[in-house]
Amino acid sequence: MKHAAVIGIGSYLPADVLTNADLERMVDTSDEWITSRTGIRQRHVVAEGEATSDLAARAAEVALADAGIAREKVDLLVLGTSTPDMLFPSTACLTQAKLGLTCPAYDVNAACTGFIFALQHAAAAIESGRARTVLVLGADALTRVVDFTDRGTCVLFGDGAGAFVLAASDEPGLMGIHLGSDGTGADLLSIPAGGSAAPCTPERLTARDNFLKMNGNEVFKFAVRAIPKVARQALKESGLTVDDVTWLVPHQANQRILDTIADRLGVPHERVVSIIEHTGNTSTASIPLAMDALYTAGKLAPGDVCAMVGFGAGLTWGAAVLRWTKKERS
Ligand code: UT7
Repeated sequence: MKHAAVIGIGSYLPADVLTNADLERMVDTSDEWITSRTGIRQRHVVAEGEATSDLAARAAEVALADAGIAREKVDLLVLGTSTPDMLFPSTACLTQAKLGLTCPAYDVNAACTGFIFALQHAAAAIESGRARTVLVLGADALTRVVDFTDRGTCVLFGDGAGAFVLAASDEPGLMGIHLGSDGTGADLLSIPAGGSAAPCTPERLTARDNFLKMNGNEVFKFAVRAIPKVARQALKESGLTVDDVTWLVPHQANQRILDTIADRLGVPHERVVSIIEHTGNTSTASIPLAMDALYTAGKLAPGDVCAMVGFGAGLTWGAAVLRWTKKERS
């Protein structure tokens, strides 16, 4: 059986930055509260006219250049997002057109766990022989759906995109991937209006139901419960243990969640990748953004084991174990 290995990686953050000081002028909050409760100091924000597919295409350009392959070689594009450009067509198709690709392209929506779910699709396609080279994207523009009058959520989220190019290889690559979903927790984090259940009406817009709603405390408790468990499951399926992990790469939701997960798993904090201070929570983009930050900093060596772990609306959660095989940015 062929394995799926990462041969290219890239990311993109929009140019505009929203700092905690900016938010102090918008809602009743403080830099001190945001920093101490979340670890976030700033987040990047899409510009007028910029959409999720633009972020995805920019990240993909970097990853494709890093992989050094001709575009015709890409035979599948899988894009994780929960802030699509529009309900349809898929953001994957819009991104595919921007990149000039001709391969099949589709979206995966598992909210902030979307990149891990997308990796599962890509790895399965490669391992089964149905694809040889897959572009996997995680892209979100959460600031487009955040209520900037709700201090409980608007301080958390930012925009960005990350990309992996996966290719068939004789060596792993992606190893164990373990996913979970529990739709009974759907109300904990959702955008109630704008879909088929509750189309946008003047009343729903007045109630601001077209914006993200979250029970932060419950999501926090769910995350620190689910993530250590799923990380151990994926490691076990890879024939590894926590002691083999070189880098724990969690979804970047809250520094306190990252610290708690690390403590519960027994991973030293210096082995936990954190970019949240500069990016905030970029949802589906956060794991590939964190991986690219590690790569760009020259901290990834062949043989390193990366445990990527995510959680989010759905509820969804998942972990993917990757043995790093690439040398350095091409
Ligand atoms: O991508 C996955 C999705 N999201 C997450 O993973 C988020 C998970 N949850 C969290 O990260 C945290 O629960 C939050 C950061 C959202 C909230 O932190 P917390 O420590 O759980 O605060 P809290 O909700 O318990 O609120 C504590 C206090 C409240 O005031 P009172 O009732 O004690 O007077 C809030 O009203 O902090 C208040 N508060 C704020 N104060 C200043 C809430 N948001 C803010 C704010 N600025 N931005």
